[in-house]
Amino acid sequence: MFHPLRVGAVEQLTDDSVAVTFEVPPELHETFRHTPGQHLAVRRVMDGEEIRRTYSICSPAVPAGGVPVLRVGIRLVDGGEFSTYALKELAVGDVVEVMPPMGRFLLPPRPGHFAAVVGGSGITPVLSMAATLLADEPDARFCLIRSDRTAASTMFLEEVADLKDRFPDRFHLVTVLSREEQQSGLPSGRLDRERLTALLPALLPVADVDGWFLCGPFGLVRGAEQALRGLGVDRGRIHQEIFHVDDGSAPVAAPVVAPAHASLTATLDGRSGTWPVQEGESLLETVLRSRADAPYACKGGVCGTCRAFLVSGDVRMDRNFALEPEETEAGYVLACQSHPATAEVELDFDR
Ligand code: FES
Repeated sequence: MFHPLRVGAVEQLTDDSVAVTFEVPPELHETFRHTPGQHLAVRRVMDGEEIRRTYSICSPAVPAGGVPVLRVGIRLVDGGEFSTYALKELAVGDVVEVMPPMGRFLLPPRPGHFAAVVGGSGITPVLSMAATLLADEPDARFCLIRSDRTAASTMFLEEVADLKDRFPDRFHLVTVLSREEQQSGLPSGRLDRERLTALLPALLPVADVDGWFLCGPFGLVRGAEQALRGLGVDRGRIHQEIFHVDDGSAPVAAPVVAPAHASLTATLDGRSGTWPVQEGESLLETVLRSRADAPYACKGGVCGTCRAFLVSGDVRMDRNFALEPEETEAGYVLACQSHPATAEVELDFDR
């Protein structure tokens, strides 16, 4: 599942962020070919403990037959073990264990009018979407509304400016800086539901946009979603990916009173097993005790790597920032957030 990839480049983007390019050997080209919007998980053992993180791919997608370019954006997180390592130590020639691209926050190129509201490092997957779409689909337009603290802290400034130069008629950029006055009458201050409700209709015909892509911190993404729903946009046209969930800013489901002696049956890579669920643990933890190959990255309900199909029984999820409503309605759950609500639960990680 993880593959050792050599680091081909580490580029400083801002004081607190870098772009890391991994080299993909020919035999893994198809495995690592991404769709714009996807992310990948990395893992590293530090002080005897395995840590995993997910990072979005910022490079444009390369069609089948071409050599995939795997470049991710990494911003330093306070106390973040992997991001500190990436910014301070990672160098060309190092080898990192990387999982193939995944995620369902996607914009494969197609004709239409698309728009994104992003905050901070939320630009990363959207840069891949906009660059691929504009290059591959002449009948597509893209409006990017990005929010950052200051110009100096803005990731991928050059890449976004390059899109403006290459596609002046089809790429519309609006930058909102929260901690800096701007010239040319552009808005400043934080983007919240109220400001977006006023701003979006002034920028573009909201109802004509075929797909909205919201990416960044929880507060911004939720505010943008509420603004769009309030402006009459269909839920099916809104796609979102949350990068950071600040403690206290997101609702967590009430604790579950798990049935005594619950058991979990899980299928993974075609092999099934049944195990008792220990009190308080998530179903992912139950599986991991016996199957080290169970898929996960964030363990926080954000990345979606641990998605599984609920075959039978019922579960309660603490929180879910990764699955679309259609996926939960279809029976998918996040194993890292699930606790048994019935005495027997069956999950299938292969579906
Ligand atoms: S491991 Fe990331 S959502 Fe479960």
